[in-house]
Amino acid sequence: MEMHHLTEHIRLWQMNQRAARRVMRKPLTEQFGELTFCPGQVKHLKEIQALHLRLFKVPMLNWLVWLYRFRSPQLVSLALDPHGKVVGYECFMINESELQANILHSVYVGVDEAYQGKGVATALRSYSIRTYDFGNLNAVSTVAGTNDIKALRCAQKAGYAIEKASLKPPGHYLVRRLTLGR
Ligand SMILES: CC(C)(COP(=O)(O)OP(=O)(O)OC[C@H]1O[C@@H](n2cnc3c(N)ncnc32)[C@H](O)[C@@H]1OP(=O)(O)O)[C@@H](O)C(=O)NCCC(=O)NCCS
Repeated sequence: MEMHHLTEHIRLWQMNQRAARRVMRKPLTEQFGELTFCPGQVKHLKEIQALHLRLFKVPMLNWLVWLYRFRSPQLVSLALDPHGKVVGYECFMINESELQANILHSVYVGVDEAYQGKGVATALRSYSIRTYDFGNLNAVSTVAGTNDIKALRCAQKAGYAIEKASLKPPGHYLVRRLTLGR
């Protein structure tokens, strides 16, 4: 990796580490059929990385892996099967452009092939929203790639609405407003 990329990644990691520490989140555990939804734990990180590589065909960004080593409970949601195996995950991060507005960004959602098409991604997104709602965030956002109908539909069904076109990556920028807690 080139030096300026490395420096940029370290800067993003530091900013995310600091900002994520302040994120208020309810430590809810919920059932969805036979699956359990819960906040992330670092012990599941290797499994998430393996599932991510299989689904996206590229490894998770290294600085994000480092972020989730320290901030999984604040930034990761998991779907576990009855054996405790990770079959779904949603990962969040803080975009510099959204920091002032107090918006958390859902950067990845993935569901094991054997569980796809059963509403798991939609339910996991809805679960994440419940954990952040009535906390200290104004909204959660996500981007659905231009031709990624599944990602768009599951975000919309979980309550996200398209606000504008996204340039990087190209697609729809969606937002789900949250209520601030008191
Ligand atoms: C995208 C992904 C997370 C969806 O997971 P999922 O659990 O199957 O999604 P859901 O069952 O909640 O379905 C969401 C919507 O997509 C639709 N959908 C699911 N599978 C579909 C398929 N094979 N073809 C067309 N639509 C499909 C669902 O019907 C639903 O919309 P609808 O109810 O209006 O029809 C999953 O396919 C995946 O992990 N893909 C690889 C990683 C990825 O691309 N992630 C998204 C970008 S971050």
